[in-house]
Amino acid sequence: MNRISALHGSQSSLVIEQAPAGLLWRYWGPRLPDDFRSGPWLEFARPVPTFSLDVPVPLHLVPTFGLGWYGQSALLAHRAGRDFAQGFGQCDVVQHGQHLACKLLDTVAGIELCVDLVLDPATDVIEIRTMVTNIGTAVLDVQWLAAATLPLPDDASAVRHFSGRHNREFAEHTDALGHGIWLRENRHGITSHGHFPGAVVLLPGTTDDDGTAYGAQIAWSGNHRQLIERLDDGRSQWQLGGWLAPGEVRLAPGERHESPAVLATCSTAGLGGVARNFHGALRQRLGWPGGTMRPRPVLINSWEGFYFDHDPDRMMALADAAARIGVERFVLDDGWFAGRDDDRTSLGDWWVDGRKYPDGLKPLADHVRGLGMEFGLWVEPEMISPNSDLFRAHPDWALQLAGRPLATARHQLVLDLTRPEVGDYLFDRLAALVAELGVDYLKWDHNRDLAPAGDAAGRAAYTAQVRSTWALMARLRSSFPDLEIESCAGGGGRIDAGIAAHVNRFWASDCIDARLRIGLQRGFQQFLPPEVMGAHIGAERCHTTGRRFSLAFQALVACQGHLGLEFDLTQLDADEQAKLAGWIGFYKEHRHLLHGGDVWAGEGSDGVAWHAAGSADEYLLLVYRTEVMQQRHASPLRLPFLHDGTWRIAEVRPGERRAETDYSGAWLAQAGLPIPPGLPDTATAWHMARL
Ligand code: DGJ
Repeated sequence: MNRISALHGSQSSLVIEQAPAGLLWRYWGPRLPDDFRSGPWLEFARPVPTFSLDVPVPLHLVPTFGLGWYGQSALLAHRAGRDFAQGFGQCDVVQHGQHLACKLLDTVAGIELCVDLVLDPATDVIEIRTMVTNIGTAVLDVQWLAAATLPLPDDASAVRHFSGRHNREFAEHTDALGHGIWLRENRHGITSHGHFPGAVVLLPGTTDDDGTAYGAQIAWSGNHRQLIERLDDGRSQWQLGGWLAPGEVRLAPGERHESPAVLATCSTAGLGGVARNFHGALRQRLGWPGGTMRPRPVLINSWEGFYFDHDPDRMMALADAAARIGVERFVLDDGWFAGRDDDRTSLGDWWVDGRKYPDGLKPLADHVRGLGMEFGLWVEPEMISPNSDLFRAHPDWALQLAGRPLATARHQLVLDLTRPEVGDYLFDRLAALVAELGVDYLKWDHNRDLAPAGDAAGRAAYTAQVRSTWALMARLRSSFPDLEIESCAGGGGRIDAGIAAHVNRFWASDCIDARLRIGLQRGFQQFLPPEVMGAHIGAERCHTTGRRFSLAFQALVACQGHLGLEFDLTQLDADEQAKLAGWIGFYKEHRHLLHGGDVWAGEGSDGVAWHAAGSADEYLLLVYRTEVMQQRHASPLRLPFLHDGTWRIAEVRPGERRAETDYSGAWLAQAGLPIPPGLPDTATAWHMARL
């Protein structure tokens, strides 16, 4: 007996057909009416093509190899070479409200699959995960398990994705979808700088704010894989999941392997609609101390101002200067622990360096708190320097493979967190630091990829390493419920919806170049909300690109996210301090709009980019000029998110509100807001309130 199961959001629906052959994907796309009719069952809806099985195999919820599905398989598994072909005709779907629990059984191959789909009507985001259980009598070798297989319509024409490197994360690309396979794989062991684990698929004509777009991201901080493949019926399938190393998942009878979750959404409001849906879903995953987000505190980070050159008096002077201009959190970066004078040494030895801090860090932490600021500390827990007491005592604690050289990167190795004694050691050291110093915030770094990630048994430990890191973070946070953690991996190497459940901020990139940050931050916010995006004002001359930017431009780029400062403030004269204090005040005045609400972004003509954040009645609009103007007059800036009502708009600067003008929303959407001409690398801010 065939049966239809459907989940509806506010903008989207998904439909699955339970057929004799198994669970089939019928639809994922814009919202259908509750009482939609889907016509004939799929097997009767289309004739059998020539040179086909007499009963062809359509796209299943979990399409599998060997019994007539010729496309990419969502499961690749075998039992010593046998049971390589799987079919899941035996299945069951139980619906509890917005949750479909699907059980698929192959009694011949001895495999059970469970697929959970939950569609949240508030965000239109589906959370999907897949579990494989070995119900056979011998070991099952699992080579690939898609966490989700999603159907895409036959006019899916392009995919927007992001790649890059350290210091240049979230570089945007749009590839045409053709008849081959579009494939992105990450084997760096962490989420990686180069392969964000998600993408957005566009239909023809879809823009930033209009048209149908499909987004998906893997909530996973390790190796991952996603592919889009055109199918025989014109549709495409999109598979996403954790990439598995050979032999990484070998299930004994009764054992199961659970995929990471995939978050997927369909929006008819273009790329921006997908982003806003994801922001909603991510906000539900973030674990804020006390349950709700506090206004994101302005922080000062010591790194680019001081690097490894620590001195308690200079750090206290930095804290004094920061507190005077309104900074709310002080973060002591790398260089504070035993013998750490450069990046060649000491990772793992998490004791305060008595040469630099003869009285320990407590006086500095107390001084910071005495100034009314929180105290944050940099750590890189998963790492071990070959030149460290920890390595000398436990050389076997590093991930390694017998017979292979220890491959260092930034002169360091990675600890094997799958060993319980390693997790306990790190927990004890971190917990002691947090308790003794009253640490409010840990900046948790990870400055290399995993190669090779061999565990004590010589097996690939990539997946287990991710789960162990998450578990260590969760253990610390349950012992210190007020502790916040920042995910940093040499900048943006570990930004994903999986670790988002354990952290409160992401360091988006080690590159603070404000012009480059405009696009980079836009890429970040395609998947994650602005309040968890670390964004700093740096020195006037950017350390990673050598370009110079004004304070105002840097401030208006950085204030999109969780604002920080990262340079030696003690070098500022009184006038510069006052200007910086003004921008900090500006951020504080507007952070209720910048964070937690809707984000809209786009490009105007002639080298203009814009970003607006707020609620239905009040926004802050940030307008950036990135190019030398070609026109003699600036084009008005069309603001597609305003449709109705009357809006009072004023250009705003620290302590200053320029002339107010009233406009119809429709005028702003269609004719546009007049903006001034300007030099490249300048920005303006506009307050917009509905009358
Ligand atoms: C890489 C980070 O991204 C930087 O911000 C800084 O913390 C350094 N590591 C410290 O080694």
